Amino acid sequence: MSAALRPSPTRTVLVTGAARRLGREISLAFARAGWDVLAHHRHSEDEAHALQADIERMGRRCHLLQADLRAPDAGLTVLHLGRALAGALPHCIVNNASVFEADDALSASANGLLDHFSTNTIAPLLLANGLARALAEGGQPTAGLHSVVHVLDQKVHNLNPDYFSYTVSKLALAQSVALQAQALAPWVRVCGLSPGLMYLSGPQTQSNFERASRVNLLHQPIDPADVARCAVFIAENVSLNGTTLQADNGQHLVALDRDVMYSIDGAKGAAA
Ligand SMILES: NC(=O)c1ccc[n+]([C@@H]2O[C@H](COP(=O)([O-])OP(=O)(O)OC[C@H]3O[C@@H](n4cnc5c(N)ncnc54)[C@H](OP(=O)(O)O)[C@@H]3O)[C@@H](O)[C@H]2O)c1
Repeated sequence: MSAALRPSPTRTVLVTGAARRLGREISLAFARAGWDVLAHHRHSEDEAHALQADIERMGRRCHLLQADLRAPDAGLTVLHLGRALAGALPHCIVNNASVFEADDALSASANGLLDHFSTNTIAPLLLANGLARALAEGGQPTAGLHSVVHVLDQKVHNLNPDYFSYTVSKLALAQSVALQAQALAPWVRVCGLSPGLMYLSGPQTQSNFERASRVNLLHQPIDPADVARCAVFIAENVSLNGTTLQADNGQHLVALDRDVMYSIDGAKGAAA
């Protein structure tokens, strides 16, 4: 049978924090593109089951994985469980799960920093390492077929000191994109994806969110589905490695002294 007629093998993506918001969009975007999904979640069990049903209605397989990514070995456990459920290593891992708690450089605590780093930095790095190591043990490099997408934030390209622990955890991950791309080649491609503000978060009010979501070069809210399609594009384009896509309507080019939720209403406005 010619290569063109051969049915393409099913690809599987592991998405962390898949049950809600951007993780759900990313999982659905991969399923629409013909991928099976390993959907990781922590507390959002009902939402995870709803996602699973939606993906199965699309004719794709979806397995659920539950884990708190703060545990030191959680990344590897999720990877091995996912491998067992799917019957093979995932072709792509999207590190989307994240903690986003308000603090600043003065109020940052050891526990807050540990929470942010364990979930936002260490688990993504170890999931990528684990995939590369497992592939290396298996033998032949797969010509870019396997990839990791670290979900970052426009904040890492447009710094201000608010959300200090969150920001430094994402900065470390952003800087690791190139390092991991170099270190994990030729087994795994590693790319970043930096969204702008998409969802109401933390102490933000609906009114603040509606105005803040237009603080970008297009003066339009960012569509999470567009961000999700970037993750699929990275996974399917084997030439992308060690680079970061910025899907933010140009928000990273609008410099602000404070986080956008504070800038537009003054320092106490976000929760007012
Ligand atoms: N929201 C935005 O506007 C925005 C802007 C820029 C960048 N981003 C980035 O885009 C990604 C998605 O954003 P989002 O707002 O959709 O995320 P989110 O709702 O804040 O969090 C996504 C998921 O992360 C999971 N999670 C949190 N802590 C965890 C832990 N210790 N162990 C396991 N899972 C954990 C939660 O799963 P459960 O619900 O199952 O517990 C949660 O649903 C994040 O990486 C974020 O940094 C978001």
